[in-house]
Amino acid sequence: MIYQDLINKEAKLAVIGLGYVGLPIALEFARDVKVIGFDISKERVEMMKNHIDPSEELPKEAFDGCDIEFSADVEDLTDANFFVVAVPTPINESKLPNLGPVLSASRTVGKVLKKGDYVIYESTVYPGCTEEDCIPVLEEMSGLKFGKDFKVGYSPERINPGDKKHTIRTIHKIVAGCDEESLEEIAKVYELVVDAGVHRAATIKVAEAAKIIENTQRDVNIALINELSIIFGKMGINTYDVLEAAGTKWNFLKFQPGLVGGHCIGVDPYYLTHKAKQLGYHAKIINSGRYVNDSMGFYVGKQTIKKMIANGTHSPEAKVLVMGATFKENVSDIRNSKVVDVVNELESFGVQVDVVDPHANSDQVYHEYGFKLAEKVGDGYAAVIVAVNHEEYANLNEDYFKSIMVDKAVFVDLKGIFRDKIKDLQYWSL
Ligand SMILES: NC(=O)c1ccc[n+]([C@@H]2O[C@H](COP(=O)([O-])OP(=O)(O)OC[C@H]3O[C@@H](n4cnc5c(N)ncnc54)[C@H](O)[C@@H]3O)[C@@H](O)[C@H]2O)c1
Repeated sequence: MIYQDLINKEAKLAVIGLGYVGLPIALEFARDVKVIGFDISKERVEMMKNHIDPSEELPKEAFDGCDIEFSADVEDLTDANFFVVAVPTPINESKLPNLGPVLSASRTVGKVLKKGDYVIYESTVYPGCTEEDCIPVLEEMSGLKFGKDFKVGYSPERINPGDKKHTIRTIHKIVAGCDEESLEEIAKVYELVVDAGVHRAATIKVAEAAKIIENTQRDVNIALINELSIIFGKMGINTYDVLEAAGTKWNFLKFQPGLVGGHCIGVDPYYLTHKAKQLGYHAKIINSGRYVNDSMGFYVGKQTIKKMIANGTHSPEAKVLVMGATFKENVSDIRNSKVVDVVNELESFGVQVDVVDPHANSDQVYHEYGFKLAEKVGDGYAAVIVAVNHEEYANLNEDYFKSIMVDKAVFVDLKGIFRDKIKDLQYWSL
């Protein structure tokens, strides 16, 4: 039995794709079983061999006491028996699922798959992807028969970048197998690393659907609050004041307005709508939510310019400071950051924009978006936009902002963190 073989160290567990999801789970497993950490990026593998997390989430000590070998060589996977696939599942420019990495990882695993092996997918996918898209690749590459020769499971990841409280060990994990025996074996393997316990889902499709609706639900709810914020903006009332008041009711859901970026909430719903469309249903609420959230960056840029024009501070020489470039607070990840939409919209009105961020890497920003971060905060800004709620910004006060802004400047506080602190500047939040 695979669980017993793993804990006796007679079998090896391999994690394919060592990013935000793959590396933490590989290191946790490596406290109990023999692990091979595999990634196609040789550069990332070298960093991990030197106990550096390329995603900058884990400290060096996280590698201590782990029975793990890192490799970018498929040959090293030949003696693994329990494969965990945690590669990215992005969307393409037309916002359709890009299954390239997950199919390529399936080809890699298929090449080394043996009788009795297990393959567990952790990547977020639409219901049906594991069975309809990935298993045929495993069968074709290995020449083995699914169910008879090898088993497949699905266990979605729920970790939240930058969140030190909700970690692999403390988050309840969903697991699914392809039959009763595999479900039990997979559950026991994950129970080794998940103290909070595992939920045994009825089928692989159920587990896939559960994950995708967690993020779809968040996306739609945030879209509703973003839409309300547009309406309240027209009414001249502050959304955060309204939410604070409404939040005193026991069953009011506590969502906030904001830019929805990153590679989960803003991406996963497209996997679901794509599958729904294939099945002949055009999802309306989910697509509307996506439309609203995807438009917020442009909305913020436009509102800022409107206020600058009204104040007489808009000119070709006008400068705007954007504080925060990452897709969320206290992380370094800038991929799919909607702050870039704010910047593009501002620049389209002919103003100069400085972007600063204590967490983001300027070269990465340049590589993704074609502009560099400003080395330091300047002065004479006609508007300052605090776009991301980084902890470094929490202690800034109105005197500081006044010192870097012109008269009649606009202060835009997307997350409402300075709501009670700004008295003299023209204040606007979502
Ligand atoms: N980041 C999160 O917080 C989070 C949370 C829950 C679920 N997820 C899901 O987990 C999956 C992985 O996301 P991530 O954030 O860890 O991605 P990531 O971009 O941080 O890392 C992916 C890693 O996989 C490697 N890789 C890409 N293609 C590969 C291949 N064919 N073979 C081997 N390695 C390959 C990359 O080099 C990289 O190191 C996605 O489906 C994502 O939606 C992510």
